[in-house]
Amino acid sequence: MKNILVTGGAGFIGSNFIKYALQNTGFNLVNFDKLTYAGNLENLTDIEFNDRYKFVKGDICEKDEVEKAVHENEIDTIINFAAESHVDRSILGAKEFINTNVMGTHVLLEVLKDHKLEKYLQVSTDEVYGSLPEDKKEILFTESTPITTNSPYSASKASADLLCNAFHHTFGLPILITRCSNNYGPYQFPEKLIPLMIAKTLNGEKLPVYGDGKNVRDWLYVEDHCSAIIKVLSDGRSGEVYNIGGNNEWYNIDIVKLILKKLGKTDDMIQYVKDRPGHDRRYAIDSSKIADELGWKPAYDFETGITLTVEWYLKNEEWWKKVMSGEYQKYYSENYRDKIS
Ligand code: NAD
Ligand code: TYD
Repeated sequence: MKNILVTGGAGFIGSNFIKYALQNTGFNLVNFDKLTYAGNLENLTDIEFNDRYKFVKGDICEKDEVEKAVHENEIDTIINFAAESHVDRSILGAKEFINTNVMGTHVLLEVLKDHKLEKYLQVSTDEVYGSLPEDKKEILFTESTPITTNSPYSASKASADLLCNAFHHTFGLPILITRCSNNYGPYQFPEKLIPLMIAKTLNGEKLPVYGDGKNVRDWLYVEDHCSAIIKVLSDGRSGEVYNIGGNNEWYNIDIVKLILKKLGKTDDMIQYVKDRPGHDRRYAIDSSKIADELGWKPAYDFETGITLTVEWYLKNEEWWKKVMSGEYQKYYSENYRDKIS
């Protein structure tokens, strides 16, 4: 395993992964990305001339484009980060989610089969397990929790996971699946909770909290997700699913208040808005399998991770202001128009 095709490497987690892997492994990495609204080569300017890194613009739904990249770069491994990744956008329109997340994954699996590659890792999400009860804190998602999808996003990710499982069992292909909880950290697109709330605070705008703000998410610093993926890629057992989490559950409202406090602002900037339809109440991950089997654990506690994240957005105002202009404005007004009365 040496030459890795990192699909979706210009997005939030993919770009953090590329930098982490260049520093911590000897792999050669080809970033294969369509550059949708979420893909941004500015995330990678610090390593763009690294000898072990190369960018190829391409779409995972186009088999010939993937095959060309695989052939020209002697690829032996694929890590699939490429996806439409935002639940709210999947509610506004599911088509692109089905195209990229389901059809695109299928294309990659066909390439894995036809070209007899060494390994394939599907970067999935804890959202495929649905929602946990808020009052039963002892219940967590394990790898055997049934798939129960409530949003078009999670349904598309679960469909991809099921295809991965089928291609492993039917064709004996070397496929691993990781299911991680909510990530946060540098370069996250400011449509997701944490960067959106930081940007809104810095802009002096109201912070839109869905419903009663009591939905619960488990938060993991992005670099810890990257280290877990490397562990699973290197030592994980083919055909297995590995949950990845931070053992770090938070009510949304408490995260929002923490961000305001860190930026020296008060809670009167919070605006409760109409809830997201089908909003999952609680996510919480049991990551004892990856801990016990592969010896992985997160390196960052939440206080460190959130401080680094807030500092990054403070220092990189130009980055987030740029991505929040243009198309973003159209999305923002469409998503929040009916929520804010
Ligand atoms: P992101 O939206 O920031 O980035 C997605 C990237 O995929 C972008 O660079 C985009 O240009 C690229 N892409 C989209 N469609 C493509 C296509 N057809 N062909 C090639 N490239 C394409 O997403 P992210 O937050 O970095 O998430 C990466 C992966 O991790 C996704 O598969 C997501 O489901 C999964 N995941 C995310 C989280 C999270 O909290 N963000 C948690 C668990 C799992
Ligand atoms: P998000 O970052 O979209 O991740 P996911 O839905 O995949 O977990 O949202 C995290 C939580 O924050 C989720 O419960 C929805 C909530 N949320 C808000 O309250 N307001 C917002 O403006 C956004 C984007 C999210």
